Formats: sequence, structure tokens, C-alpha cells
Amino acid sequence: MLSGKKIGLFITGGIAAYKMAELSRQFIKKGAQVRVVMSKSACEFITPLTMQTLTKQPVLVDVFDETDPQIVQHVHLADWCDYVVVAPASANIIAKMAQGIADEIVSTTLLAVHCPRLIVPAMNSNMYMNPATQRNLVQLTADGYEVMTPDTGFLAEGYSGIGRLPELPAIVEHLEWLIAKSTLPQVLTGKNVVISAGGTRERIDPVRYITNDSTGKMGYAMARAARNLGANVTLISTATQLPIPQGVDVHYVASAQEMLEAMTQQLTQQDIFVMTAAVSDYRVAEIATQKIKKQAAQQGLQLNLIENPDILAYLGHHKQDGQLVIGFAAETQDVENYAKKKLTKKQADWIIANDVSRKDIGFNSDANQVTLISQHHEPIALPMADKLSLSHSIWQTIMANEVAK
Ligand code: PMT
Repeated sequence: MLSGKKIGLFITGGIAAYKMAELSRQFIKKGAQVRVVMSKSACEFITPLTMQTLTKQPVLVDVFDETDPQIVQHVHLADWCDYVVVAPASANIIAKMAQGIADEIVSTTLLAVHCPRLIVPAMNSNMYMNPATQRNLVQLTADGYEVMTPDTGFLAEGYSGIGRLPELPAIVEHLEWLIAKSTLPQVLTGKNVVISAGGTRERIDPVRYITNDSTGKMGYAMARAARNLGANVTLISTATQLPIPQGVDVHYVASAQEMLEAMTQQLTQQDIFVMTAAVSDYRVAEIATQKIKKQAAQQGLQLNLIENPDILAYLGHHKQDGQLVIGFAAETQDVENYAKKKLTKKQADWIIANDVSRKDIGFNSDANQVTLISQHHEPIALPMADKLSLSHSIWQTIMANEVAK
């Protein structure tokens, strides 16, 4: 998403300014070009030379430092940017931007910028919560700026509160989301989408459970892609180790039963249901309350398994007019045929079939290859791709066919 993009990184005065060295490197590693503008206060926390060395570009620190008579430097830079990130954004620069003040290099250049802008506030919690700052942030949002919420945690002042710079991967992801919004067709605008992800865990006793190889990566990619295409996304996840996608509402569950409850609670609020999760077909009839002790030699251990509810089938059979139910099918042979049977039996609108016998796709891999099956169309095979790119294609293909129906 960042490859080939020209990013203007505007740094203002705050202790988090030192993190901009690494942030610029993360942008560059993803293929972006970065130009930096720094306020006088920012230069107290990190030197322009550091940023120049990392970006291999001159850094703007003074409006009147005009070395090239052919251009007006700050306007030239403002025109050059495809996207702008203001980080850390101090209360001062937020106030100036909200008022349209241009009295030094950062505010002056920002006033000339005409591309999408991401504001990443980071400051003392009292400064952040001050009604003036909150008012200014509301104004910036109304003016079309993308504003991140700071993290809550230990502040440089020595106490905890809201105001920490969000983790760098979260800033990178938020920028990628902004890029997606301005470049990809927003085929899911206004749609509420709920997606399940990960393998369910069926308890045997307090320390053991039955699960499977699903990592949640495909479900998270489907969630990120839906968000990128304009949807309001809720993720029902068993996976707790994956980074929370920016702008997605995540609810954690463990068992199939919990997942069923979480999904059906959404029944009246959602337009589209996607079952990416690998749901265990069976659970233990009675969960032992104490750790099961090792049995006598040769005696073995019998587990009595009973069937779990089929969540996709429940959703398929209870969907209202206009709602869309999408399932996945993990198959190891005769993929299309088995997927078609699941489509009919579970009354889904679409089944996304993947071959999980392959090591390079499906479970626990970064890539996947799928065939989209529905009642109204011939199977549509999508080429192998990383899970996020593939998810964009899945959504675009399904929505194009749904509109054409
Ligand atoms: O998480 P990753 O590591 O990225 O792996 C991704 C994936 C391989 C798990 C994913 O791409 C996938 O195929 N998910 C569906 C896995 C699965 O359980 O398939 P299934 O053929 O057993 O089930 C068919 C459909 O019924 C699925 O949508 C499943 O969520 C649903 N189901 C199954 C059983 C059950 N009791 N309730 C259900 O809702």
C-alpha cells in the first residue's frame, strides 16, 4: 500500500519525536519516499541530521531557508506529498491547524498541503483532555483530517494516562487504511459487516482443550479489507495474539458456543456475516472441573464428544431479506464439489473454498488461493495472493456480482 507513495512526515515538539526516526524507516522499508518537516521544538528532541540521514532528503526547519531560487521550498514540498503524517502532533500544532494559523515552517507548510492527512496526537493527558484541544480535534475531523486516538499508558511525566503516541505499527496501518480509502473503490460504504476469525477452543479440563491450526490471519485480513473498502467492521475472534486492526471493533471468544452467541447477537445489526473461523464440529460432553489425571497404564482415556452448533447454517437459515451470509470451506480434496454442498446445506449466499491440503496456502500461511462459489454464478477462481490483497479481491468480486444480481 505504501510502495511508491510520497509521504510528508511533520514532526512537532514532544518527547515521542525521537520515535520518528524509526517511523520514517518503517515507511521507507515499505517502499515509500519520505520528506521531513520539523518544528523548532521538535529539533530539541531529535536532530534534523538524524532524519536527513535516514530519509536521504533535506529536512525543512525554517520557512526562510530558501536555497533554490526556482522554487518556494515549503509550497514545493506541500505539492510533492501524496499523504501527510503529523506525528507527534502537539496541542500547539493541533490548535494552529484548527485555526488556519501559519507562523513557522510546520504550520505554514501544512496550510499549503492538499492531500489526505493523518494526525497522530501525543501529549500530556491533561493537555489532551483540555476542552480546547478536544474542540480543535473535532474541528480537524470535520475539516476532513484523519485523527488517531492516543494510547493510554505510562507517560514521560511518570504517571499513567491517555496521550502516549500509538505503537508505530498502528500508525503505519492507519496510514495504509487512509491510502486504501483514497485509492480503492469503496464498495462496502455504509455496510455493517461481522467476521469470525481463528480456531475455536473446546475445553477438556482447566488446562487442556481441542483446537485446530487456524491462526486467524485470513479472518483478520477479511476484516482489514472490509474496513479498507468502507465497511463498519466487527470481528469475533478466538485469536488473541494478532494486532487489533485499526478502526475494527474486536470481541474475543473461545468456544463454538461463545462464537455462536457473539454472532447471533449481531443478527439484527449487520448487513453481512462472514464465517472465516475454523469452528470445531465437536466439543467435550462434560468439561472436567479439575485437571484430568493420567490413567493407569494401558487403560487409555475416552473423551465423550458431542456435536457443536453449526453457526454458518444457523445464520444462513435465519438471515433476513438483504442480509448476506458468506462461509469458507476448508477442503483437502474435491474442493469445489464439497464447497457447493456446504453452500446448499447451510443456505449461505457465498462459499469461499480453499484447499487446506497445501502447505503454502490456507491454514497458518500468509497467502491463500480461493474459489468463490454461489448459487447464481459459475465458480470464480481468484489467483494466489497475500491474504490482505486476496481479501480485497474477494470483497470486490462478491460485491460486483451482488450489485449485478
Ligand atoms: O486462520 P488462518 O490460519 O489464516 O487459516 C484460514 C482458514 C483456512 C481457517 C480459512 O481460510 C478457512 O477455510 N476457514 C473455514 C474453516 C472451516 O472450518 O471450514 P469447514 O469446511 O469445516 O466449515 C465450513 C463453514 O462452516 C465455515 O465457514 C465454518 O466457519 C462454518 N462452520 C463449521 C462448523 C461449525 N460447527 N460451525 C460453522 O459455522
